[in-house]
Amino acid sequence: MAGSPILAGFDALDFADHRFKRGKFTLFVERPVRRSAPILIAVVFLLGLVADASDRDETTKSSASSLLAATPPMGWNSWNKFACNVSEDLIRQIADAMVTSGMKDAGYQYVVIDDCWQIDRDGQGNIVADPKRFPAGMKALADYVHGKGLKFGLYSDAGTKTCQGRPGSRGYEFQDARQYAAWGVDYLKFDWCETSTQDARSSYELMRAALDASGRPIVFSICEWGTSKPWLWANGVGNLWRTTGDISDRWEGKVKWPNGDCCSNGMTEILDLQVGLASYAGPGHWNDPDMLEVGNGGMTVSEYRAHFSLWAILAAPLIAGNDIREMKPDIRQILTKKEVIEVDQDVAGKEGQRVRKEGNLEVWSKPLHDGSRAVVLLNRGIDEKNIAVSWEDLGYPTHLTAKVRDLWQEKELGEFKGMFSASVAPHSVVMVTVRP
Ligand code: GLA
Repeated sequence: MAGSPILAGFDALDFADHRFKRGKFTLFVERPVRRSAPILIAVVFLLGLVADASDRDETTKSSASSLLAATPPMGWNSWNKFACNVSEDLIRQIADAMVTSGMKDAGYQYVVIDDCWQIDRDGQGNIVADPKRFPAGMKALADYVHGKGLKFGLYSDAGTKTCQGRPGSRGYEFQDARQYAAWGVDYLKFDWCETSTQDARSSYELMRAALDASGRPIVFSICEWGTSKPWLWANGVGNLWRTTGDISDRWEGKVKWPNGDCCSNGMTEILDLQVGLASYAGPGHWNDPDMLEVGNGGMTVSEYRAHFSLWAILAAPLIAGNDIREMKPDIRQILTKKEVIEVDQDVAGKEGQRVRKEGNLEVWSKPLHDGSRAVVLLNRGIDEKNIAVSWEDLGYPTHLTAKVRDLWQEKELGEFKGMFSASVAPHSVVMVTVRP
């Protein structure tokens, strides 16, 4: 943009820090001009230099953080399978298994300890890891995970306590962020329990500022359950944001929590809640429909295949939540399915959308970087059904001929004109790419 460096700075800072930017802008448009011209020119020039330098800093910072999670983060998290039963032994074994099981080669990077690793704060307010479960401490554990060529993640909470009653980060944001950076943390999941009347956006912006100040690039995973519609404000704050309450390891149905509150969601309830959110996702900032349940035992293998396919079409973070130390081959095959992961990780970073729904039969489509489409034909019903997708559903002219490839079978199905259809088993998907 042509114009003064100050105004150019205003644009760049707009992304990074609204309050600072407004202060700076106000200084220039509102302060009356009383000084002589040469002094004014010198001041404008000097401030221009300062603005330039600070713009460079801001630009470097924002491009560095936008490179983080350029594609949806892939990793493993302890919560879905182990809940509070976490320890350094478990995490070491999981890091080993990430390598030996082929998960690392398939693209999984982050090993994240969810709730319950922390037990207290010391006299200086430093967060303390449970010494019984993590006797060697977090730095040693992070080093071990890094030694495997993986990245290390932790969990905290924007409120006074985590969801399991451990110390939260409220009031300790900068101290905690410094501590995480010193330990070598690469990923922070930040929950929303015990937040009383806190404002979601400013609470997460505060932790964003604390992570920036720590000087370490840390993927910031906002776990606010979608309550304040984070897709409207969290681009530039977090790299991913939960869009819903917690997933459960079942195909469908809401179930009340033990305390009577409503409700945990089945996989397909979570899926329905993603409709309409696609435009908010992109490189560095993703909608998060919650972690994977693949392999945890509550769904059939074909239901897990559907769950994984749908998360891939949604460009969702692929955070495995099962015990990868003892995966059955069919579960490992799902989690490491190369062509399906490629859909999730496509560099264009477009989230797929539901383009057709007729009762239990749905078509989901995701535009890929080369102009082709990944397509999931989903049968939510209990009878085998034929599901058709027209090129019109995919945004293609009807007269086009396109190659169709089955991603689970890894097989070219041939050339099709105007439409493609396949028979889909109950609670299953067929997943293809369509390449004109
Ligand atoms: C919340 C989050 C879950 C998990 C638990 C841990 O419910 O949504 O993903 O982190 O807290 O207590």
